[in-house]
Amino acid sequence: MIITIDGPAGVGKGTIAKIISKSLGFKYLDSGAMYRALALFADLNGVSDNDSDRLKKILIDLHIQFIEDEEGERVLLNTDDVTEDIRTNEISTLASKFAANDIVRKILREMQRRMIKDKDYIAEGRDMGTYVFPDAKYKFYLDADLKIRAKRRADQLKEILGINMNEENVAKEISNRDNLDMTRESCPLHPAADAVIIDTSNMTIDEVVLKIKTVIDDA
Ligand code: C5P
Repeated sequence: MIITIDGPAGVGKGTIAKIISKSLGFKYLDSGAMYRALALFADLNGVSDNDSDRLKKILIDLHIQFIEDEEGERVLLNTDDVTEDIRTNEISTLASKFAANDIVRKILREMQRRMIKDKDYIAEGRDMGTYVFPDAKYKFYLDADLKIRAKRRADQLKEILGINMNEENVAKEISNRDNLDMTRESCPLHPAADAVIIDTSNMTIDEVVLKIKTVIDDA
């Protein structure tokens, strides 16, 4: 069974998806981490987001793996652990640029479908319920005010990377990224027609988790 959670940057999708996947005993697909790892890989290879010919060539050698250890989930790019490297602001912006390239989306979409095949998964990202898993059993779209999302993202960056970010700058970064993600031609971010939309602006994490579980239990 597949449950999808989509929504804009900083809304808390990852946190919520991890909690729900643990409590249901499902696996968790962080599709954003795949776009981030791809952007890092392309950047290290000196390939830009609009060079589709070279991207096609280098992406044959791209392998992304998620592994669990005592610190939680780790992201491997080929054999390198890039868990922290892919969380910087620079990679956030780059990921969004590469994510607008249709070749990139096709390659990652296939990888995502292969990873999930025949397993129970919570798939989280921007296009999980709309384009990658349109037949998912339950679909959720989380949203929240920009200011609140900027605070959540700044808190997360502090926790993961130990850096203090100015919330106004974070708001600018995520709103630029949302713009690009919502207006690109290939698989733009929008709620699936059959998604349950939850405005989490004034909700705690526990309340959002409860709301999602209630929808699933009541179905
Ligand atoms: O979710 P996260 O912030 O890690 O995603 C980074 C970027 O990857 C997003 O801004 C978006 O451009 C891209 N992305 C995407 N489709 C997904 C997941 C992420 O286009 N399913």
